[in-house]
Amino acid sequence: MWKPDRQSKQPLYEQIADHLERRISYGEFPPGSLLPSERKLAEQLGVNRSTVILAFAELRSMGIVESRTGSGTRVSMTKWGATPKHTPNWSRYAEGGSFLPNVPFMRKIREALAQNPGLVDFASGELSADLAPIEEITALMSRHRYTSYLGYDNPQGYSPLRQALVAYLQQYRGIQATESSILITSGSQQSLYLVTQCLLSPGDAVAIEDPSYCYSLPMFQSAGLRLFRLPVDRHGARPEDIRSLYKKHRIKMVFMNPNFQNPTGTVLDMERRRQLLDVASELGLPIVEDDPFSLTAYDGAPPSPLKAMDAVGSVLYIGSLSKIAASGLRIGWMVAPHSIVERLADARQQMDFGLSVIPQQVAAQFLKSPDFQPHLDRLRMQLQFKRDLVIEALRKELPGLVRFTIPQGGLHLWCKLEPEVHDGKLLEGAIRRGVVFVPGSVYGSDSGFVRFTFARAPADRIGEGIAKFAEALRELTGESSVRNSTE
Ligand SMILES: Cc1ncc(COP(=O)(O)O)c(C=O)c1O
Repeated sequence: MWKPDRQSKQPLYEQIADHLERRISYGEFPPGSLLPSERKLAEQLGVNRSTVILAFAELRSMGIVESRTGSGTRVSMTKWGATPKHTPNWSRYAEGGSFLPNVPFMRKIREALAQNPGLVDFASGELSADLAPIEEITALMSRHRYTSYLGYDNPQGYSPLRQALVAYLQQYRGIQATESSILITSGSQQSLYLVTQCLLSPGDAVAIEDPSYCYSLPMFQSAGLRLFRLPVDRHGARPEDIRSLYKKHRIKMVFMNPNFQNPTGTVLDMERRRQLLDVASELGLPIVEDDPFSLTAYDGAPPSPLKAMDAVGSVLYIGSLSKIAASGLRIGWMVAPHSIVERLADARQQMDFGLSVIPQQVAAQFLKSPDFQPHLDRLRMQLQFKRDLVIEALRKELPGLVRFTIPQGGLHLWCKLEPEVHDGKLLEGAIRRGVVFVPGSVYGSDSGFVRFTFARAPADRIGEGIAKFAEALRELTGESSVRNSTE
């Protein structure tokens, strides 16, 4: 006699509905026949009657059974009768597969922004429209002919873009790359995805920074990877921690965002960079260097990437136009040994035949254009200006209730709230007042931290947004302290 499995993650009522559906489809209960009563089934299966009621409701919602008061539950004639019309159970499919959904806070933020585009947005990690080179790109698009060939292109990426990147990487990042060592991806996100899916296997152990952007990506768990944390202090992650994670867990790869790290804004200390590369080469351990923010360095002197110091080839380097030009272009790249580029290009062929050639053509033109450098100069100044607006507003609205280290590049301000409040309640209160931010726990920190992205909101709404956030925080703390602990 079948009984539901109480250890299973699937709710009891769903197990019962599945079980009954199977018995119906095997003909045990023909169309029009009466199912056992709720009370009887509950007894047989050793569950509460309310659980059977839920199971019947599930079957009713799928049109498999019909109930009439006083005459029990019967197998539907239309669904299982002569002219069956079976609607797939889409919600079950939607819950299936091995790809995990985004973390709940991120989904909540996305929904809030979709419902109310007027929210002051300190959550989306991207540039506002006025910081993106829209005029420059529009002018390029009207000057150049983009449609001479619109077939499938090389899945490794459009050749002139890879050539433009060879020059860009040399000039701006001190990285010696060749066209064949570059893979163009749909943003750096796809580079991370390809690495986790194609170069690692389920069960492999990897190290990620804590807190970090990687921590917010369920894609690591979807790939079945075991994650180990590298705590980030004000100088970045500690190379010795990598050695001990290797000894204890045989980690296979390390993911780092060394320049103006998301979310903390930290720059990995130069001495640690050297030690990190020593440890990596000693252990034969690959480092994935995710470097989307370096050219936003407000002083115009971006920290040198690990890849430029990498004598033995330990580093897979990932870059992007998202944070320095426009996230909607979806242009990212990876610099890797040719065997890796080939392997990942082959995967691209299976996934999507490579990125659309049009944004690649636009990106190649933009990188080579005389507008690129002036755009970067303007962007840096404006980001710094917006950073200062957020800091000024926080000092005015929340003196003593928020601590932070002032970032010297990037898009984010990482704040510790004092005293600690409930992340979810704070986000809800903020959304109600018209502002969104990302709770720090999304990035792996303890509760009590928040990330404010200052690049996305219009400059003239930053003060208003922080004032709304401050109201939401005060509602929870019931405080309006004046102790100033900003540093
Ligand atoms: C550290 C880091 N890496 C990668 C990405 C993905 O960016 P994209 O795919 O737009 O290049 C982000 C986006 O926020 C990020 O912060």
